[in-house]
Amino acid sequence: MDIKIKGTGSAVPKLRVTNDDLSRLMDTSDEWIRTRTGIEARHLAVEETTTGLAVEAAGQALENAGLKPEELDIIIAASVTADKLLPNLSCEVQSALGASNAVAFDINAACSGFLFALNTARMYLAGGNYRNALVIGAETLSKIMDWTDRRTCVLFGDGAGAAVVTAEESSAEKGGIISMLQGSDGARGMVLNCNNRPVNNPFVKNDASLSYVFMNGQEVYKFAVKTVPEAIREVVEQSGFSMDEIDWFILHQANLRIIESVAKRLHQPMEKFPTNLQECGNISAASVPILLDSVNKRGMIKKGDKIVLAGFGAGLTWGATVLVW
Ligand code: COA
Repeated sequence: MDIKIKGTGSAVPKLRVTNDDLSRLMDTSDEWIRTRTGIEARHLAVEETTTGLAVEAAGQALENAGLKPEELDIIIAASVTADKLLPNLSCEVQSALGASNAVAFDINAACSGFLFALNTARMYLAGGNYRNALVIGAETLSKIMDWTDRRTCVLFGDGAGAAVVTAEESSAEKGGIISMLQGSDGARGMVLNCNNRPVNNPFVKNDASLSYVFMNGQEVYKFAVKTVPEAIREVVEQSGFSMDEIDWFILHQANLRIIESVAKRLHQPMEKFPTNLQECGNISAASVPILLDSVNKRGMIKKGDKIVLAGFGAGLTWGATVLVW
């Protein structure tokens, strides 16, 4: 069975907020944000919702794949900022699309979420009972940011990306997802967390006010520049390709310095690492599928291109895959 990405889609909110806009709200500057992260702007939800962005991205991915919603067998959405606890984001997307034949569930693996969801879809499809999956990464992170904490809120944005993944009879040439790995290290979870569901009932006294994302930036940075190259090396080795044969590295868009460091450690040119963090910031689970859609729609990827997708983030979690387009 070849498990292939057949279509992609993405959506970001209308409101574009530049670094200069933020510097009018808090003690920061375009120079600080750009030199440390590469980020120049981000899109933030005003009228948009996580579900609405996910539905928009999903609709585009279906159209791009030439599939009708009723043909979907599975919908897996990765998010840490679904609009509701119940029902889940995937069921909301299912309902909006009219994908009545799909089973729908969510995954929370933070910024690695799309990779975790893609691997889950891949295993469902490889099992042989399902044919078409919709994999989504969607976030409105702006609602869990502390907008008085300049160390974190300037880094993140809102948006959604989606991919339609299908199972086909194996072809003679290697095609689709070739190798995949996932990793987790819960022991280091406190370096990036959002503790906003405390126990709350008539028998406990607590401050049940919401808390926001906390990040130890330097620890996250060290984790990323060590773990991501290691994961990519391992997944590329599993694929049987050499590193130099990989045409594109589509990485989670957290920080340009992290991406440059990964490129350097893998001895690969930055031209193979497309980026959109300049315009989007870090959109957690949505980063990788939004960037994939952008390079797909711009016609940058050719049939047969070898692509690495890699994500990393809270948990800590990380995931990577090698696929042939
Ligand atoms: N604007 C201006 N100054 C800021 C600022 C901002 N937005 N945020 C922090 N600063 C200040 C700090 O207060 C500190 O000042 P001080 O020395 O007077 O205390 C100074 O800048 C340096 O802060 P520091 O946190 O040491 O900066 P850094 O060089 O580590 O860069 C990050 C911070 C967040 C850019 C960097 O650690 C990083 O990118 N980490 C990875 C984060 C990430 O990718 N997270 C998502 C993973 S999914």
